Amino acid sequence: MKLIIDDADTQAIRRLIDIYPIDGVTTNPSILAKAGRPPFEVLKEIRSIIGPDLELHAQVVANDSTGMVADAHRIVDELGPHTFPKVPSVPQGFKAMKTLVAEGVKVTATAIYTPLQGFLAAKAGASYAAPYINRIDNMGYNGVQVAKTIHDIFRANDLDCEVLAASFKNSQQVLELAQYGIGAATLGSPIIDGLVKNQAITAAVEVFNADFQGLVGAGRTMADC
Ligand code: G3P
Repeated sequence: MKLIIDDADTQAIRRLIDIYPIDGVTTNPSILAKAGRPPFEVLKEIRSIIGPDLELHAQVVANDSTGMVADAHRIVDELGPHTFPKVPSVPQGFKAMKTLVAEGVKVTATAIYTPLQGFLAAKAGASYAAPYINRIDNMGYNGVQVAKTIHDIFRANDLDCEVLAASFKNSQQVLELAQYGIGAATLGSPIIDGLVKNQAITAAVEVFNADFQGLVGAGRTMADC
């Protein structure tokens, strides 16, 4: 399962990329609005932080397929290879996906709440389909189960598309999907930090280091003892 940052806070992205094995960054219009800067200014900064090879996903905002295709062209032109225009999985979006895929553009189908949206997106040639785990949970359904069902539909129908699960609230949702082997999960910065936030882990490392310094002297490490 790829691990992707769902954020446009460039400071947070820099920190997380430095620490964790990250495969890319996703944004959506609301995330860009939160950054409060011109969209391509922040997206280009993200591209420069993550380098040319990691994935960057940025969403189209036009309402019809012609406008969505134009938005997608601009996104790819500005942000280069390994950039995935995110296209909402609505009727005009499926039409735009077919056009873009025929041109060789790799697309992420987004705003997915139901397995059949995922099925249609994959049939339209999307590379990723993004179900919104926590938002589905908040509607009284089971977001993790929806993501698993979409993953199963892709495998059962031999569709060349991966689930890119989005909208997470906690580590348990991430764990279940990692165990199931879905393609990717995109997580907000606090959720990524929360994956290993555990006092038992921190305390274990502190005790190891204190014991070792008792042996060789305060402040000394393997490198200098
Ligand atoms: O891009 C879609 C998804 O990441 C939204 O997450 O937390 O706003 O439900 P959230």
